[in-house]
Amino acid sequence: MAETTSALQTPLPQHDASHTPKRYLVLGATSGIAEATCRIWAAQGANIFLVGRSENKLQAMAADLRVRGAAYVDIAVADLDKLEDHASLMAHAITQLGGLDVAYLAFGILGDQPQAEADAAHAEQILHTNLTAPVSMLTWLANFCVKQGRGTLAVLSSVAGERGRKSNYVYGASKAGLTAFVDGLRNRIDREGVAVLTIKPGPVKTAMTAGMKGNEKFADVNEVAKSIADAIAKGEGGVMYVPAKWRPIMAVIRAIPDSMFKKLNL
Ligand SMILES: NC(=O)c1ccc[n+]([C@@H]2O[C@H](COP(=O)([O-])OP(=O)(O)OC[C@H]3O[C@@H](n4cnc5c(N)ncnc54)[C@H](OP(=O)(O)O)[C@@H]3O)[C@@H](O)[C@H]2O)c1
Repeated sequence: MAETTSALQTPLPQHDASHTPKRYLVLGATSGIAEATCRIWAAQGANIFLVGRSENKLQAMAADLRVRGAAYVDIAVADLDKLEDHASLMAHAITQLGGLDVAYLAFGILGDQPQAEADAAHAEQILHTNLTAPVSMLTWLANFCVKQGRGTLAVLSSVAGERGRKSNYVYGASKAGLTAFVDGLRNRIDREGVAVLTIKPGPVKTAMTAGMKGNEKFADVNEVAKSIADAIAKGEGGVMYVPAKWRPIMAVIRAIPDSMFKKLNL
């Protein structure tokens, strides 16, 4: 992965406009939400390229997706914090897939809020993985999709980005930045035929939330994945809350005056 590969230099593979999106590039593929989404796409006979940092997990997931009906599954092992590898990684994946219909960005870390309060280096790590690395990948992917005049970029942000809370404001800041970037990207390239979807989950039962109090009440990952897969299939982009109840809940949270909000233990 030494050479930088410009999105504008990457050859455009053939595209059959008659089919629904079938070539998926999944970045952070071993995420609980991403894996559940990939199972839906596998059952539809999709071509899926998985990128993650654990070879064992990726291989197990690829074998599972093939059994579930995926037409083609390939993997690449990569630490997505390494920005210098992004361009060649994505060009390789798209070449292997024979084109790109959907890029799905699912990687992220919750981090440790108390540690981030004490150590700015940890705060910077959370911002790097959740914001800087996605910005790097999305900039390349957006230029690739604009060049081909189509494609969907689907990005997992979070309701946590909607208001800084004392319990997780560093993670929240990373997602607020990501949401603003993805929203702006959509406003730039929607008119170029590229759909950009900002996905804002509320709490979901995955490895990320496994240790959290009350997590038995969190959303089921398969239901969340079904909503996401349905939204991506529409190919329209936009902003989605998942489960949908989080849209009105966050409207209320945003409307609470600062003088009250700072007294809440949220
Ligand atoms: N679960 C929730 O309640 C919730 C709510 C809102 C938003 N989200 C967002 O949804 C996305 C998926 O979360 P999830 O719940 O599915 O969590 P998860 O199961 O913990 O998945 C996170 C994934 O990110 C990968 N990752 C982290 N840093 C990476 C790096 N440097 N390079 C490559 N991969 C990296 C992890 O890889 P490893 O497997 O190797 O660790 C893991 O596969 C995240 O962006 C998260 O912030 C989750």
